[in-house]
Amino acid sequence: MSDTPTVTVQPVDVRHRYEIHVDGVRAGLTAYRDRDRQRVFFHTEVDDAFAGQGLAGRLVEEALTDVRARGMRVVPVCPYVAKFLKQHHEFDDITDPVTPEAVAWLQRQLG
Ligand SMILES: CC(C)(COP(=O)(O)OP(=O)(O)OC[C@H]1O[C@@H](n2cnc3c(N)ncnc32)[C@H](O)[C@@H]1OP(=O)(O)O)[C@@H](O)C(=O)NCCC(=O)NCCS
Repeated sequence: MSDTPTVTVQPVDVRHRYEIHVDGVRAGLTAYRDRDRQRVFFHTEVDDAFAGQGLAGRLVEEALTDVRARGMRVVPVCPYVAKFLKQHHEFDDITDPVTPEAVAWLQRQLG
């Protein structure tokens, strides 16, 4: 039997988020709203019990890979996603800038 935990990332479209699970326990999420073909990420969190293990990086990498597969683009309002993109240039071709219009739109969406 292996001690290596099973880590999975899954889109939860109805809740506008991707979730990461470790051995079936939800450990974190990254949340977005869709603005036409742009997926605007605004918040990422990993539970304290799972912090510092690279889970946020794994979560965001798989989320952005899914965004690409859907033919969509990324707007990184979330500071963690923005930092991730500065370190992972393989997503440059699907990344759009955070504009004042996008931020205002997001604020209206989130009420
Ligand atoms: C930020 C957070 C998601 C990181 O989760 P994690 O699984 O421990 O992160 P990882 O191990 O994958 O990555 C750690 C990296 O996150 C960076 N980080 C930590 N807090 C950050 C923040 N608020 N904004 C941007 N980056 C952050 C660290 O500097 C570290 O960077 P490095 O890899 O270059 O050293 C987690 O600490 C958290 O939930 N924080 C509270 C909510 C929050 O501030 N979310 C970010 C803005 S929405």
